[in-house]
Amino acid sequence: MGYDAKLRVWRGDDEGGELKDFTVEVNEGEVVLDVIHRLQATQAPDLAVRWNCKAGKCGSCSAEVNGRPRLMCMTRMNTFTEQETVTVTPLRTFPVVRDLVTDVSFNYEKALEMPAFQPPAELKPGEYRMAQVDVERSQEFRKCIECFLCQNTCHVVRDHDENKPAFSGPRMFIRAAELDMHPLDAAENRKEFAQESQGLGMCNITKCCTEVCPEGIHITDNAIIPMKERVVDRKYDPLVWLGSKIFKRAGA
Ligand code: SF4
Ligand code: SF4
Ligand code: FES
Repeated sequence: MGYDAKLRVWRGDDEGGELKDFTVEVNEGEVVLDVIHRLQATQAPDLAVRWNCKAGKCGSCSAEVNGRPRLMCMTRMNTFTEQETVTVTPLRTFPVVRDLVTDVSFNYEKALEMPAFQPPAELKPGEYRMAQVDVERSQEFRKCIECFLCQNTCHVVRDHDENKPAFSGPRMFIRAAELDMHPLDAAENRKEFAQESQGLGMCNITKCCTEVCPEGIHITDNAIIPMKERVVDRKYDPLVWLGSKIFKRAGA
């Protein structure tokens, strides 16, 4: 059975805005994105909202629903009671373009900084071989749909724009971990790069990023913590330390 839902939606642009109240029809089985689309079709034709697949796969409909970062297309209206006001606001960590659309280019800039996969020089494509266990380990990270909900949630940048230049965020840490665990990646300094250039040390393992990931990727346990442990191992392993001193001297 349908009902009329109380909806509160942020309207505005990069110069400011406010929450506006609406009453919008909801039908059985609908998700927040359906209701936003009905609002757009019936009362607010200029409402800006980004979406594409409506299937939880393109990662473009990210927003905050009752303060929680979520995909609008995967958030069922029956999560809320019929009496409840459902508040939809844009992602807080990124600059607003208009209404529910934010400028997420920060994430693409950080992705560009990441050194690409470096295949082994002695092998040609087609000759690469990997153990199944290595395939499975990195497969979890390949499920990322780049919704950037984790990036939006991380407290290191959420209220601290000043940290953005030094911090790449959890989405980039899973990419770094994926490449670091890849047996065919010939780049040697993934851990050092993560620590020194991507701000891995600023992460204090609160796991908030993991809690909001719609793909259920264990960002903290399977990517960030192993990367941190390997940075520490490398730093405090006496053989690695001795080796780095000798090679530094030899090269001096
Ligand atoms: S675990 Fe690290 S990356 Fe994830 S939200 Fe917390 S501080 Fe940010
Ligand atoms: S790791 Fe999860 S939350 Fe982060 S961008 Fe990928 S899918 Fe979204
Ligand atoms: S519209 Fe594609 S993930 Fe929601």
